[in-house]
Amino acid sequence: MDKRETWSSRTGFILAAVGSAIGLGNIWRFPYMVYENGGGAFLIPYFVAMLTAGIPFMILEFGLGHRFRGSAPKIFASISRRMEWLGWWQVVVAGIIATYYVVVVAWALNYFVLSFSLGWGDMPKDFFFGDFLQLTDSPLNIGGLNMSVFSAVIVAWGVTFLAVFTGVRGGVERANKIFMPVLFVLVLVFIARGLMLPGAGEGLEWLFRPDFNALLDYSVWADAFGQIFYSLSIGFAIMLAYSSYLPKQSDIANNASMTVFINCGFSMLAGLMIFSVLGYMALQQGVPVSEVAGAGVGLAFVTLPTAINLMPMPVFFGVLFFLALAVAGLSSLISISEAVVSAVMDKLGMSRKLAASLFCGVGLLLSSAYSMGGGLYLLDIVDHFVNNHGVLLGGLAEIIFIAWFCDLESLRKHINTLSDFSVTGVWTSTLRFVVPVMLSAVCISNFVGDLSANYGGYSTKVIVLFGWLMLGICALLAVVLPYGKGAFGAGPALNANFLRSRG
Ligand code: ALA
Repeated sequence: MDKRETWSSRTGFILAAVGSAIGLGNIWRFPYMVYENGGGAFLIPYFVAMLTAGIPFMILEFGLGHRFRGSAPKIFASISRRMEWLGWWQVVVAGIIATYYVVVVAWALNYFVLSFSLGWGDMPKDFFFGDFLQLTDSPLNIGGLNMSVFSAVIVAWGVTFLAVFTGVRGGVERANKIFMPVLFVLVLVFIARGLMLPGAGEGLEWLFRPDFNALLDYSVWADAFGQIFYSLSIGFAIMLAYSSYLPKQSDIANNASMTVFINCGFSMLAGLMIFSVLGYMALQQGVPVSEVAGAGVGLAFVTLPTAINLMPMPVFFGVLFFLALAVAGLSSLISISEAVVSAVMDKLGMSRKLAASLFCGVGLLLSSAYSMGGGLYLLDIVDHFVNNHGVLLGGLAEIIFIAWFCDLESLRKHINTLSDFSVTGVWTSTLRFVVPVMLSAVCISNFVGDLSANYGGYSTKVIVLFGWLMLGICALLAVVLPYGKGAFGAGPALNANFLRSRG
């Protein structure tokens, strides 16, 4: 008997999928990607990546999740026993992401509280790296546990645990029904006021001015494709798990397109939010917009507080921004955790409550490493390697396997019998040719880049230890976990003829 839980409504599912997609990737990563890639220049590759890879891949994942009704390992194992490893690779990648993603959410929670008193003071940079993170001098000097960060980590895991433990409808769906409207209101209120700041226009001009020369720069394209996969939560087990809870009769193609458009639209809103503030800050400091921001964590936790200090109504802006960041992060963290929990449940036949308790408990222990004095270095390196290689390699293997070795035509028919609109042969061709070619190019370039120079100028020892070794652990677990006790493939034989015969 197929007793899989289901979403209560189409809106519930879309809110959950959007809640997963919209996260730190949109508010924290997207603006600095735009920033690092020369402003508006980034938008063309970004929208090309959205149309050629984002939407087709999302339709594919929703279709697979719906048709095979399982977590990533179960889906791939149902198609071919020999491919179960791919599902575990994606699940392990998601699990690793959860352990540090929660720490950035925790920083946002801390900063939300601090913003009521502008507790970062007059020197936000010194405060963030010094008083707040108590950053050590090297990744190998891990330092002590930072209790203020770790307490917020416990809160973030607690919220995630409650949502995942309670179940798809009562927990995950309910959380997103609260979080998503709150998030949109926070961001829209921020923008409505932010756009009225002097200098905001210059910030936006910088965001929207396209620079066609950047299209010749290979790394801009690599960043755009990487950002699309990360931001849409595709290629690392999440959307497969979420769509496995769709009821039998549910649209696929339209839901997928809506999720992508809402997510990318929200990224633009986040861009408006950040760049209006950067424009204001540039005007106050009498420098060009291109000179005000630092990249990475610096943008959210150093530049924004610096700008907020200069703004009228600083507490208002601070509270809105950091609460939005925390809410967006929490709804994504729930989905990343659900990807792992659903896989454990499927594989071991374990109850949701036990699987959620185990995962969140182990996750909490592991995230303590990122809450230490040297945690930021660790987070930076693991994030770089897991995103640039872990997520994209998982996506590439998935697309090659499904588009080249499986019966994509039968999946297309399945999607078309259910969807509000039909996907045509263009979808199939895009998945067969465009996505694998672009993803392979990005994966190769990332690989060559990381082999030729140590990321972030860290020492080789540190890069091997926290970067390459982490990927090695993913690979090892992916190979070993399929041998665990489990009951995949015993379900309904939905896979009949799906694996194209290659005899
Ligand atoms: N899609 C999630 C994000 O953008 C992981 O943060």
